[in-house]
Amino acid sequence: MRDILPPEGELWRRMENLLALIARLYGYQEIRTPILEFADLFKKGLGDTSDVVEKEMFEFIDKDGSDVALRPEGTAPVVRAYIEHGMASMPWVRLFYIGPMFRREKPQKGRYRQFHQFGIEFFGVQSAAADAEVMSMLDRVMKIFGVKGYLKYNNIGCKFCRPKYIDVLREQIEGKLDVIPKEYHPKIRRNPMRIFDIKDERVEPVIKDLPKIGDYLCDACLSHASELRELLDTLEIDARLDEGLVRGFDYYTRTVFEYISPDLGAKSAVAGGGRYDYLVSYYGGPDVPGVGFGIGLERLLMAVQGRVPSLPVFEPVAEVMVVYTHSSLIPYAMEIAEQLRNQWIAAVVDLRGVSLKSQMKAAGKRGYEWVLIVGEDELAAGKYKLRDMNSGEERLLTPSEIISLLAGKGE
Ligand code: HAM
Repeated sequence: MRDILPPEGELWRRMENLLALIARLYGYQEIRTPILEFADLFKKGLGDTSDVVEKEMFEFIDKDGSDVALRPEGTAPVVRAYIEHGMASMPWVRLFYIGPMFRREKPQKGRYRQFHQFGIEFFGVQSAAADAEVMSMLDRVMKIFGVKGYLKYNNIGCKFCRPKYIDVLREQIEGKLDVIPKEYHPKIRRNPMRIFDIKDERVEPVIKDLPKIGDYLCDACLSHASELRELLDTLEIDARLDEGLVRGFDYYTRTVFEYISPDLGAKSAVAGGGRYDYLVSYYGGPDVPGVGFGIGLERLLMAVQGRVPSLPVFEPVAEVMVVYTHSSLIPYAMEIAEQLRNQWIAAVVDLRGVSLKSQMKAAGKRGYEWVLIVGEDELAAGKYKLRDMNSGEERLLTPSEIISLLAGKGE
């Protein structure tokens, strides 16, 4: 654990302000959860065979006998809060957080026992459009900060296809136990997927020869993966498929990803994230899917060699909801939202693929000032209807006219 001294403290404040601003661009609102939680929260969600729970959690029995832990990550506490405060009544929820996390790791470059994360969690959208938006937001953060690198991603299946893969994996590993050091046997017997977390050169050759989850995906996971690929291409995100990527927590389903910066070396990601479709229901909440990521702030600072860009001269002012007349137009709506964000205008797309009427209802409920309507005719003409939600007035405008109108509309 280390102190952050002046003048570095100023840098941290600037970094956190800039991250909060980018979060707002995508419609995320801040949540702060306690640093201390019941240890069971992490044991259940991350999995008790995960390295973080098994070896790295600062866990202790409090005076009243309760088993508590310093939070090693932010997703489990945010999901707990989401359920506890009935947030599932909203059509979707986008939350961000910034704060310290704790893992008892061997201290080394870029690895601390108290470190900080900026994270986001997006609840309520099952389709790959949510994964694409979250990945493109991560990409934007890295571009704004000037980090050189790229996203790598994979699909690790769902509760229907993964068990079959695990059976095959278990069988293959059984045949190779004689070359795997004994200390790892109990862990991989309980959860064969954890073999991929083992960083030991004696196990590396075994891992290299194991079957890949990609060959065992069910049709639903395959179509999720191809929808994601198409959207990443549309949004021009440099995301590379890495069939060996599995990530170290049990809560992930389907899409997982990491942001790699060659400046930090291939083994330490600047950020990591993924989809967790069963975590909310696993903790006793309703059946709501989620997706998010966490950026390690010490690593972000390292990747930019301590240089944090200045904040834009103005705060994003107008908040726009981009709606579509048909769900097939979602990729266009996402692209237009990205163009608005390029100009620091906050934009949100209802990625659930619901009717225009439901989207307008959501826009009203959320109190969006402006709604931009994307339909076939508008796309063909290159002009979009911009509706002022207070007056009900609608105007047909080009994207650049919309941008100058909204960017000039400062509070
Ligand atoms: P994670 O990959 O464990 O994911 O952590 C995210 C980032 O935190 C890492 O990429 C790294 O930059 C940073 N980090 C982790 N451990 C350390 C450490 N000991 N020292 C310095 N930096 C560290 C999660 O925590 C998930 N909760 C992310 C997520 C959000 N998935 C879905 N939503």
